[in-house]
Amino acid sequence: MTVGHHWSLSGPLSKAQRDKLDRSGVCFSCHQDIPQGNLAVSAMTHIAQMAEITIDTRKHTDILNKILNLGAWVQVIVGMIMGIVVMLVMYRLFFRKKR
Ligand code: HEC
Repeated sequence: MTVGHHWSLSGPLSKAQRDKLDRSGVCFSCHQDIPQGNLAVSAMTHIAQMAEITIDTRKHTDILNKILNLGAWVQVIVGMIMGIVVMLVMYRLFFRKKR
């Protein structure tokens, strides 16, 4: 809505802006598998419970940041390994001299 006409950007939000704001279900994207997702997730939850780790907002933010960085590195490394495997297979098929 328009707050005041003296603000140059004052006005209703555009659809693109509203779409960016809507991240409903973001918590559920992880918490559908917490505490009982796959074996690794439930193991981590049990370990956190046994170690009596309280997850406050700061800890939660740290966990999320770690998940992001870990996920990004795993995908980059797996991609690089797959690229190397493809190059190795191509080398073996087309470039290596046959005896
Ligand atoms: C990237 C994945 C991810 C997202 C997104 C996420 N969480 Fe979490 N959350 C976790 C993990 C991992 C834990 C730790 C689970 C454990 O070991 O018990 C956790 C723990 C929690 C806990 C503590 C649970 C407990 O037993 O003490 C609360 C509360 C929580 N999250 C709320 C939220 C809310 C609210 C949102 C959305 C605003 C959210 N989470 C989004 C991954 C996520």
